[in-house]
Amino acid sequence: WKKLIMVHHWPPTVCKEAENDCSNPPDYWTIHGLWADKAEDCNRSWHFNLEEIKDLLPEMKMYWPDVIHRSPNCSHFWKHEWEKHGTCVAQLATLSSEKKYFSKILDLYKQLDLNSVLQKLGIKPSLNYYQIADIKDALASIYGVMPKVQCLPPEKNEDVQTIGQIELCFTKDLVLENCTHPGFPASLKQKARWADEADSAGLEVCADGPAFYPPPPRETR
Ligand SMILES: *[C@@H]1O[C@H](CO)[C@@H](O)[C@H](O)[C@H]1NC(C)=O
Ligand SMILES: *[C@@H]1O[C@H](CO)[C@@H](O)[C@H](O)[C@H]1NC(C)=O
Ligand SMILES: *[C@@H]1O[C@H](CO)[C@@H](O)[C@H](O)[C@H]1NC(C)=O
Repeated sequence: WKKLIMVHHWPPTVCKEAENDCSNPPDYWTIHGLWADKAEDCNRSWHFNLEEIKDLLPEMKMYWPDVIHRSPNCSHFWKHEWEKHGTCVAQLATLSSEKKYFSKILDLYKQLDLNSVLQKLGIKPSLNYYQIADIKDALASIYGVMPKVQCLPPEKNEDVQTIGQIELCFTKDLVLENCTHPGFPASLKQKARWADEADSAGLEVCADGPAFYPPPPRETR
């Protein structure tokens, strides 16, 4: 593998994708994970141990909740991310333990500060549609690199795709780099093979054109 992919997801879309009644999803972008671009399940004997990240739990619950299974215990989601992705990127000295992996991701999340960046750019959940190119260009103007944006394709009775994930890519030295390269579309099939199937079965790279950035469902409490 060659790059690290920091994946944020939009909880209202995650809920929609899961067709699950997750009530009151967070109304801010949360962490999905930090992945290697072309590797998964690299060390099946390196088991997840919740004890190791005990001091991170308050932040983990806030920024990295299991949106779909809103049990008080998110550890199943973290275990999945660690075993599938963490055990691969842990080849890097900066990420070489569970503690380092999860705390570095929390750091990256805070540094990237995607929620504030989107706010400042005036990109807010809305009933009006956005152009995908506008969102990518706006984010690139802040981060200096091209992000990858993933969407749920339109369902039968819908006009447009729904924004679900925003990914920012890093070199192995944790320097931001473009997620997309010239000629990227040609390698889409290859990419899809490494998509996080268990977690984002319905998501695809957004098509150029309009997209819906759904407001959180109205609170019913
Ligand atoms: C896999 O993880 C185990 C447990 O941490 C470790 O002892 C072993 O060296 C690792 N194997 C490889 C190939 O990295
Ligand atoms: C969460 O679940 C794990 C097992 O999946 C268990 O080891 C842990 O004690 C649980 N934590 C809490 C706070 O219930
Ligand atoms: C990222 O892509 C843009 C074009 O989309 C290009 O101008 C820029 O040089 C690229 N940056 C890097 C670091 O590759």
